[in-house]
Amino acid sequence: MIMAILTQAPRGTEDILPEESVQWQVLEEVMRGEASLHGFGEIRTPVFEHTELFQRSVGDTTDVVQKEMYTFLDKGGRSITLRPEGTAGAARAMLEHGVYNGGLPVKFYYFTSCYRYEKAQKGRLREFHQFGAEMYGSAAPLADAEVILMARSIFDRTGLSGVSLELNSIGCPECRAKYTEALKAYFGEHREELCSTCLDRLDRNPMRILDCKSPECGRVAAGAPRMLDYLCDDCKAHFESVKEALTAAGVEYTVNPSIVRGLDYYTRTVFEFVCELDGKPITVCGGGRYDGLIEELGGQPMPALGFALGMERLLLLLRQQNIELPSEEPCELFIASLGAPAKMAAFRLCDTLWKSGVKAACDVNDRGLKAQMKYADKIGAKYSIVLGDDELAAGKADMKNMETGEKKKISLGENFLDDFLTITTMDEDLSF
Ligand code: HAM
Repeated sequence: MIMAILTQAPRGTEDILPEESVQWQVLEEVMRGEASLHGFGEIRTPVFEHTELFQRSVGDTTDVVQKEMYTFLDKGGRSITLRPEGTAGAARAMLEHGVYNGGLPVKFYYFTSCYRYEKAQKGRLREFHQFGAEMYGSAAPLADAEVILMARSIFDRTGLSGVSLELNSIGCPECRAKYTEALKAYFGEHREELCSTCLDRLDRNPMRILDCKSPECGRVAAGAPRMLDYLCDDCKAHFESVKEALTAAGVEYTVNPSIVRGLDYYTRTVFEFVCELDGKPITVCGGGRYDGLIEELGGQPMPALGFALGMERLLLLLRQQNIELPSEEPCELFIASLGAPAKMAAFRLCDTLWKSGVKAACDVNDRGLKAQMKYADKIGAKYSIVLGDDELAAGKADMKNMETGEKKKISLGENFLDDFLTITTMDEDLSF
C-alpha cells in the first residue's frame, strides 16, 4: 500500500509527459494567438487564495464550494483554498492592482491548474487545467459575441468537429427575483424528491437545484419553470442583440434554456460548448456574463464576462477524432564517439550546433558504439556521425542520413557548421 502511494499520483491527477507536453504547447500557442488578436494580455495568479474569495464569488450554495474545494488552514490559521476556477482570482487581481484605471475594457487571459474534489472519471479530474479569458468593463452585447467568437475560433483552429454552442440567458437580479419565487413554489411541491443538499438550497438559492448532479433532483428539475420566460425587457433585448451579433458573424448556436452553469456569479448570457466524448455529451468550454461580481468583491460596479476551456477535455476530444497534433521535433544530429578525445570533440561539436539553434546530441554515458546508435534511433536522429581517432586525425568524418543511409563528408574544423547546413539544406531541397 505504501509503495502504491509512493509510485502513484493521487486519484484524479495526471502527469503530463514530454510527448504530450508538446501537444499542450501547440494548443497553448493557438489560444495565445487568438487571445492576442483580441487584445487580451496574460495574467498569472496564485494557486491558492483566501477561502472567502471563492465563497463570495462562486457562491456558498454551489457544489464547488459546498463539496469540492480543497480548503485548509495554513500555519497562521488562515483559511486557504486551492483555486477551483480562474475567474475569481483574476477579478481579485484586477481590483487589487487597479488595472482598470488605464481604460476599459480590460482583458485578461490565463492558463491555470484548478482543483475540485470531484468523482474522478474520464474527462473529470481533481486537478485539471483551463485556458480562460475575462473581459471587464463592457456591458455591450457585442462583447458577449466577441468572447464567444474567440472560443469558437479556437475550436475551429484546432480542427475539432462536432462542437456545438449552447446559449441561454439567466437574467439580472431584478428578473431573477421573480424567477426564484417561481422556482421556490415549484420545488416546494416536490420537496420529498430532493436530496438533502437541495432541500437546503430550496430556501437559500433554488436555482442551484437545477444543476444538482443527483438523478432524482435532475428529474424534478426537468419540469421546473425556465428563466427565459421571466426575463425583464432589458435582459430580453440584450439576449436578442447577442444572438443577432452571433448570427451576423456566422456563428451557429442553439438556445438551451436549461443551461444555468454551476457557479453563482453569472448574470444574463451564459453559454457552453458541448461535444461528444464516447457517445456522451461533455462540456468542453463554459462561460458567460458576471455583471455583479466585481461589486460583490468590493469594487465599483463593473460589468464583466468570460469563459474557460478545459485543456484535458479538449485533448481527449482531439484524440478521439484522431486529429494529429505535432509531436516533438526530432534530433537533427547524433554524434557517436569512441575513446576519450573523440568524446570531448563530439561534445564541442554539439555545443557549436546548440549555440546555432540546432538540436543535437552526443553520448554522455560512456556507452559502446552499438548502444549509442540504438539511442540515436530511439531519439529519431535525422543524421549521425561516428567519431574515432581516425576521424580526429583526418579532421573529417562521414555524416550519415539515417533515413537513406547516404553518407557525405563533413569537416570537423571551422567549416563544421557550414558543411552541416549545406548537407541538410541539400537533402531538404531534394525531398521536395
Ligand atoms: P466551469 O464550467 O466550471 O467554468 O469550467 C470550465 C471548463 O473547465 C469546463 O467546461 C470543463 O471543460 C473544464 N472543467 C471543469 N471541471 C473539470 C474537471 N473536474 N475536470 C476536467 N475539466 C474540468 C468556470 O470555471 C468558469 N470560471 C468559466 C468562466 C470564466 N466564466 C466566466 N469566465
